[in-house]
Amino acid sequence: MSPKDWSIEKAIEYYNIENWGSGYFWINEKGHLCAHPYGKDGPSIDIMDIVEDIQEKNLGFPCTIRFQDILRSRVVTLNEAFKRTIEEQNYRGKYFGVYPIKVNQLAEVLAEIVDAGSPYHYGLEAGSKGELATVLAVNTDPEAVTICNGYKDEAYLRLAMLGRKLRRKIIVVIEKLTELPQLLKIAEEMQVEPWIGLRAKLTTKGSGKWESSGGDFAKFGLTIPEIMHAVEILKEKQMEHCFKLFHFHVGSQLPDIRTIKESVREGARIFAKLSQLGFNIEYFDVGGGLGVDYDGSRTTGDSSMNYTLEEYAADVVYNLQEVCREEEVSEPNIISESGRAITAHHSCIIMSVFGSIEIGDNPMKNHVESEADIVRDLREILTNLNRKNFLESFHDAEAKKEEALSMFKLGILSLEDRAKIESLFWQLCRKIVQTQKGMARIPEDTANLSDQMADQYMANFSLFQTAPDHWAFDQLFPIVPIHRLDEAPSRATTIVDITCDSDGEIDRFIDLYDVKNTLALHTLKPDKPYFLGMFLLGAYQDIMGDMHNLFGRVNEVHVFCDDEDPEDYYIEEVIPGDAVKDVLSRLQYSPAELSKTVKTAIDREIRNGNIKPKDGIGLVDFYEETLNGYTYLQSDVPKSIRQRAANGEKKIVGKK
Ligand SMILES: Cc1ncc(COP(=O)(O)O)c(C=O)c1O
Repeated sequence: MSPKDWSIEKAIEYYNIENWGSGYFWINEKGHLCAHPYGKDGPSIDIMDIVEDIQEKNLGFPCTIRFQDILRSRVVTLNEAFKRTIEEQNYRGKYFGVYPIKVNQLAEVLAEIVDAGSPYHYGLEAGSKGELATVLAVNTDPEAVTICNGYKDEAYLRLAMLGRKLRRKIIVVIEKLTELPQLLKIAEEMQVEPWIGLRAKLTTKGSGKWESSGGDFAKFGLTIPEIMHAVEILKEKQMEHCFKLFHFHVGSQLPDIRTIKESVREGARIFAKLSQLGFNIEYFDVGGGLGVDYDGSRTTGDSSMNYTLEEYAADVVYNLQEVCREEEVSEPNIISESGRAITAHHSCIIMSVFGSIEIGDNPMKNHVESEADIVRDLREILTNLNRKNFLESFHDAEAKKEEALSMFKLGILSLEDRAKIESLFWQLCRKIVQTQKGMARIPEDTANLSDQMADQYMANFSLFQTAPDHWAFDQLFPIVPIHRLDEAPSRATTIVDITCDSDGEIDRFIDLYDVKNTLALHTLKPDKPYFLGMFLLGAYQDIMGDMHNLFGRVNEVHVFCDDEDPEDYYIEEVIPGDAVKDVLSRLQYSPAELSKTVKTAIDREIRNGNIKPKDGIGLVDFYEETLNGYTYLQSDVPKSIRQRAANGEKKIVGKK
């Protein structure tokens, strides 16, 4: 990208910020990425200001930033969209959304969602005993619905009935038929009336990465014969009135609006037929699936969606209403279990780039008398390369490189000459990449060279902890430098993490029309930090990240807009990430025992005279500090926040 053609507008376009950012992110006049937690016209927070605050607080990077107001905005946007479309279409039921907590169970996230959702009686969904135990305590609104999904044991069912005793609207969704008699028995024993939901396996299937959640072979839900069996059981027990909810879920991140329309129509038809059998089912639950446009392409690609949140709400209401009218049954209340659409936008991670690997960036000394002929030949190929012969030169150079390697294996090429061969070969590849620039037709054999020659930027993070979905199934997340956006980025890069795993690399990036294999970033400046942000990480990633190489949870700050000053913000909470000893404890090590063992070993060496006593004390302290330190690379954290946390200082509250 030419520096003179570059501008902030170009940066917005190149990193596709307008499309994936959904109005929550933009670039300000300083060339910094900024957040607009209440949408484009609301207050703006310069993310570099937050980075400075993080540095001032001696917190290291990587660091997660949670924009709590974005969570709030998502809850309001979803509820308002349903409210509006229900009014516009004169739909007779109401919307009672639930947030499935498996998408992000963090206490602060739940608290914000429940608070923002309270005017709408927004509920929660649990998928396990542990989640239900949480939900029962976190959402106490008697009008909000609680949905219990997932396979259930006796304790899970009893917990749900405990909720019914508290007069909560807790609906147990029957995922497999054997759960129904078990639930009825427990409810009778506990002398409480159960609220029952039936989950159907629709034939409509989603597409994309989560398509196996729907269709005949789905893991959860009842087939139509099983639903008929379930309603027979309810009739026999004269408990028809307990059948409160009809549910389906065809998959997460549905990229195509057609799947949503089709699943609602199929589900509505089953719902209507059940209503005609005499069941007065109050709620119609369309499950999750509302997508997030991760790459901003507005297509049916796996990381995108071809519809908006407003279209989603309108289509659910419209299609359900149409079927109800045709079948002459009353219009039920609507529930959706949108998860990623609520949480994805609110969190991002800031990581620092601490170096780069440039292939062949170590040119060897020039011609010397003693070098082998094959080195001289390759040097000549490089010198004579031009626009006309570059393909032929590439093939000749490849052949020379292979020949040189065979000679080396036979012991007839020196290590120095082998180094020269490699260095000359990569110089030649670089020259070809330059030569090919702007050519209308690039030969197949050299087409991938520019991607292969991309710099690897080393970033202080673990892909496995921060974005496991990228590693597991190529889910794309937007990555953008958070400063210098008024400067043209001149390096084609891939990004590598600090795990000792070659899978810890990002070499697929969002693009409007395709997937890019490299991302344009800025040249690193000596002694100047370079910060990248990875965005839309709030759904699933927080909870599914693992501790590969013992890199633990990252530091975290929770940012709020300042209601009194629209230009300001404050960090309400700082949560230190894992220290080394935290991850070790989780793996059944005792950090105290480890320290003792190392201290004993150091003491022995002091006694043997191999270590001076003063140095020994220093080494013991250093080992302790390492156990108390951050699991990620640390450069300039003099007295780490973890040490303060170890002294009991858990929460640091500060206002900018
Ligand atoms: C039953 C159920 N409901 C809701 C969700 C949340 O889906 P999403 O995050 O796509 O909204 C899921 C996730 O797969 C699910 O299995």
